[in-house]
Amino acid sequence: MDADVILEMKDIKKSFGELDVLNGISLSVRRGEVLAVIGPSGGGKSTLLRCATLLETIDSGAIRYLGETAADTGVEGSAVYAPIEKLRKIRSYFGLVFQNFNLFPHYSVLKNVTDAPVVVQKCSKREAEEKGRALLKKMGLEDKETYYPSQLSGGQQQRVSIVRALAMEPQILFFDEPTSALDPELTGEVLKVIRQLADEHMTMVIVTHEMAFARAVADTVVFMDGGVIVEQGPPEQVLGAPREERTRQFLARYSEKEA
Ligand SMILES: Nc1ncnc2c1ncn2[C@@H]1O[C@H](COP(=O)(O)OP(=O)(O)OP(=O)(O)O)[C@@H](O)[C@H]1O
Ligand SMILES: [Mg+2]
Repeated sequence: MDADVILEMKDIKKSFGELDVLNGISLSVRRGEVLAVIGPSGGGKSTLLRCATLLETIDSGAIRYLGETAADTGVEGSAVYAPIEKLRKIRSYFGLVFQNFNLFPHYSVLKNVTDAPVVVQKCSKREAEEKGRALLKKMGLEDKETYYPSQLSGGQQQRVSIVRALAMEPQILFFDEPTSALDPELTGEVLKVIRQLADEHMTMVIVTHEMAFARAVADTVVFMDGGVIVEQGPPEQVLGAPREERTRQFLARYSEKEA
């Protein structure tokens, strides 16, 4: 086992009823790597993230974090999940940032970012607040700790939700279209903090429609369509000189839409 592999997904299959959404997806993410997942709507990107973060169960395949197995195909051919205690430990390895921020509306910014460290990690309130304030400062939100989410812009809310995820000190952070609910002028401030995290070698998996961003920050781009990985590689290759016709078509349609 390669100690630098944070996440390994092997031959993941997932259907909703008759609909095969993931058709045998394998990927791995190494420490410090930034992986961008791109692809057409309905291609299974969110489902992949939801399976990776144990919000959705897989039908078969294996999911491992830091060499610890969360799920693996059992003798009967379907996925068997680890016992709840082990899953709890594995959950502490990752964080997830949603498209729609998902902050607690009735909690202040500071409470949003300190709640999980206090309740889940049993951090002292003081320690959690110190850490939370430092992270808020880093994200340019030091004057917002007493605000409620509804009093913040979408870009600020998304930065708070990034702080909330970081406060748990994850080994890997997942983002599902972190800027698609934002106006263009607010998108930039969120992409900037994600880029800052990439510069600090945070391990990240980012589903995005921002091709220029993917090109700038990703080490690896994964193009997904129809529940399979059609092509993956460095951004210069997948975005710059795609080998597969399907990737070319997607990118061509994309640049038409952007124009
Ligand atoms: N809980 C569910 N029950 C039934 N079908 C679902 C469920 N979640 C997703 N699907 C279906 O699975 C397919 C893949 O959805 P998914 O949300 O993963 O796509 P996506 O690549 O994230 O798309 P987008 O770019 O629009 O976010 C879609 O056809 C969707 O309707
Ligand atoms: Mg999606």
